[in-house]
Amino acid sequence: MAKTTRLDLMASKQSGRKIVVVTAYDYSMARLVDRAGVDVILVGDSLGNVVQGHDSTLPVTLEHMIYHTSCVTRAKVDAMVVADLPFGAVQRGTASTLDASIRLVQEAAAEAVKVEGAGKRLSAIEAVASSDIPVWGHLGLTPQSVHRFGGYRVQGRGEGEGRRLVEDARRIESAGASALVLECIPHELSREITAELGIPTIGIGAGPECDGQVLVLHDLLGVDEEFVPRFVKHYAKLGETIPQALGRFVQEVREGVFPTLEHSYSTAAKGKGKAGRR
Ligand code: KIV
Repeated sequence: MAKTTRLDLMASKQSGRKIVVVTAYDYSMARLVDRAGVDVILVGDSLGNVVQGHDSTLPVTLEHMIYHTSCVTRAKVDAMVVADLPFGAVQRGTASTLDASIRLVQEAAAEAVKVEGAGKRLSAIEAVASSDIPVWGHLGLTPQSVHRFGGYRVQGRGEGEGRRLVEDARRIESAGASALVLECIPHELSREITAELGIPTIGIGAGPECDGQVLVLHDLLGVDEEFVPRFVKHYAKLGETIPQALGRFVQEVREGVFPTLEHSYSTAAKGKGKAGRR
């Protein structure tokens, strides 16, 4: 397959083919996600939650994003790789946003970056886009604003708030964004924004009418069985499967069932001699 680009996503918007985006944070998972045929891998700052174990994305730094994005791009995926600009990089202003975006492209081979919010962020989006780095916007429940929101709650309910989001979406497109993530907003609002914009909208908790959908990999694989907010569907139960497999390993080692000679080397070099991964 060929590499997915910004132009393919625009073509999908026009044809009505749904765009599929999944997060990944490392080489091995990026390979598996890519093999499933997703269009975009998002190296989200949600890694702060699902990889680092924080209760928000705020502790994630630019160095973390560069590290994880490099791990993903080393998998040489066909999917387009979009990296989140972490808290701090954007809040420090346009120059800092541009510097961080350039580092993500140059040091980690990101193919686009994502910026949360509108308002003061619009000039940053404009600066990144006009520096030839595709940039995605992100509106609604933007996790980096959790303290202003007073918690993780649905955004855009009520006429005034809804109008403000539609207006922000228009401004983000005018600033040069090439796609827009809509998180946890009423589906009627996503439908309106999706119809209004020329760029693709990618929803998470924003209903079925967006041009595409994104989910956090760990959520869709059911790694944490107890985390099932309304917008998440578990397509696997890794929270059960992984401990079951590991439990069998523990048992077999304790009982001397593993390893057998089949999994051992002998002085007579025959059979599988390979010891490295590649
Ligand atoms: O960080 C992330 O994974 C995200 C998605 C949830 C959209 O921003």
